[in-house]
Amino acid sequence: MSDSRPVGFFDSGVGGTSILQAFRRLCPEEKTLYLADTANCPYGNRPPAEVVRLSEAMVQKLLARNCKMIVVACNTATAAAIDYLRVAYPEIPFIGVEPAVKPAALHSRTGVVAVLATAGTFGGRLYNETKARFAKDVRVLAVVADEFVVLVESIARGEGSLGDARSWSIVESKIRPLVDAGADHIVLGCTHFPHLKRLIAAVAGPSVAIVDPSEAVAAQARRVLAERGLLCK
Ligand code: DGL
Repeated sequence: MSDSRPVGFFDSGVGGTSILQAFRRLCPEEKTLYLADTANCPYGNRPPAEVVRLSEAMVQKLLARNCKMIVVACNTATAAAIDYLRVAYPEIPFIGVEPAVKPAALHSRTGVVAVLATAGTFGGRLYNETKARFAKDVRVLAVVADEFVVLVESIARGEGSLGDARSWSIVESKIRPLVDAGADHIVLGCTHFPHLKRLIAAVAGPSVAIVDPSEAVAAQARRVLAERGLLCK
């Protein structure tokens, strides 16, 4: 049986398209719907209860368009809302995204890893449980990088570009201190940040691995569709 209903994605803004693109590469036959809550972007510093309310409004819009699965393509919304959403909409599979601290900690040679995310993500249960479980033996530099969210949104509006001096200087001022502190992995813990990946890698240099969870989240979404017989074949 083939299920041709769309897979829904949402984020506070354009960030989650990093996951959408990975999913489209993996599942080109699937229909997708992407919602950006640009009226309320950024989510990063909002209280969790407000992020739950905003996320639920996005979910309701996607369900009104008959989505068969929802990818919460936002670390901040996942941290605040995914537990609630899974209970409130038990018939809908939800896929979330959280900072990939585990692979970074496992592969670090210097014993120092950096995580870039929002305050909301750092305050959430998922990040703190994963860190306590898998990153006990490394030093984790947790850095809030709201400037990157603002930068990605402004470039999406056509203001500036990834190659200009402003972008370089915003990225350099966050990334250079992490490299100087010995970080050999930089975890992109916000879906806006993969849009800056090449710039981050250029500033960090070849000895630093940039950990982007987009492909793994897309693979998980595909796995769950297959398990539940929801694939569009
Ligand atoms: N893209 C989002 C995330 O993954 C949130 C950015 C924001 O709205 O602050 O956390």
